[in-house]
Amino acid sequence: MKFGLQGRVLALAILFCAWFASTVVVAAEPSGAQARTVLVIGATGRTGREVVVKSLEAGYQVRALVRDEPRARASLGSEVTLIVGDVRTGERISEAVEGADFIISALGSNVRADPSNTPELVDFGGIQRLAKHAVESKIRHFILVSSMGATHRDHPLNRMYSNILIWKLKGEDALRTSGVPYTIIRPGGLTEARGGEFLPTMMQGDDLSRQGRIARADVAAIAVAALDRPEAMKKTFEVIASNTPGEPDWATLFGSLNVDAK
Ligand SMILES: NC(=O)c1ccc[n+]([C@@H]2O[C@H](COP(=O)([O-])OP(=O)(O)OC[C@H]3O[C@@H](n4cnc5c(N)ncnc54)[C@H](OP(=O)(O)O)[C@@H]3O)[C@@H](O)[C@H]2O)c1
Repeated sequence: MKFGLQGRVLALAILFCAWFASTVVVAAEPSGAQARTVLVIGATGRTGREVVVKSLEAGYQVRALVRDEPRARASLGSEVTLIVGDVRTGERISEAVEGADFIISALGSNVRADPSNTPELVDFGGIQRLAKHAVESKIRHFILVSSMGATHRDHPLNRMYSNILIWKLKGEDALRTSGVPYTIIRPGGLTEARGGEFLPTMMQGDDLSRQGRIARADVAAIAVAALDRPEAMKKTFEVIASNTPGEPDWATLFGSLNVDAK
């Protein structure tokens, strides 16, 4: 079949328009992690700061609810959007949560340094409040760093830190029952090791005979790897570092865990 000059020009014009339209659509539609916002709670803390670093590395936009803006800016750099607030009062929490896609909390009370910052108000009340706002704002996934031993009422940490593990479990329960998609990470003892060396050992059942330690950087890596991952949803697990070096296969690691009983 032969086309005249006009036909060929028309065909070229149609092809060009189709190409231009597809280019415009791709450019206008933000892709993957780059378009998504993670709200980090406890970002000025030792684990939270690692969460911020790893979220930025993964291409997420990061915002943080912080109590001390100058200290947070110095610690977290200029890429992070800061919102000044306190989980005990709820001050500016709705503003922090509104429009975010995900929440990662590495929040922790510090009752010894500040007797008014109790586990009841922070590890329970703060998480309960955040979970409520997360539901209202349709947060896609809320990842909570809790603690190994949370189910053991007679754990010595409860006597030392105003029932911290008891309140952490209540915070976990508030998240689990909130309706927001969640993952709860219960690390063993946290260390300042640089991380990325040893595969994590993920366990369920809060069995204290299998205690161990893990780098804060590795806990942060697990939290960021879990984001929006179907295999991680509605799961609570303990984690320590193994002795095995290697690159985690996240789908297999998260996929091997059981979904929480209702
Ligand atoms: N230490 C361990 O071996 C261990 C083991 C297992 C689990 N964990 C848990 O892992 C998590 C992270 O631990 P970490 O040692 O990395 O924490 P961290 O360094 O003590 O940091 C705690 C963070 O929570 C923030 N925060 C405290 N009270 C707040 C409030 N009222 N409103 C808003 N933010 C508040 C702090 O902000 P400021 O900077 O303003 O104080 C800080 O950013 C904690 O939940 C901890 O209990 C710890």
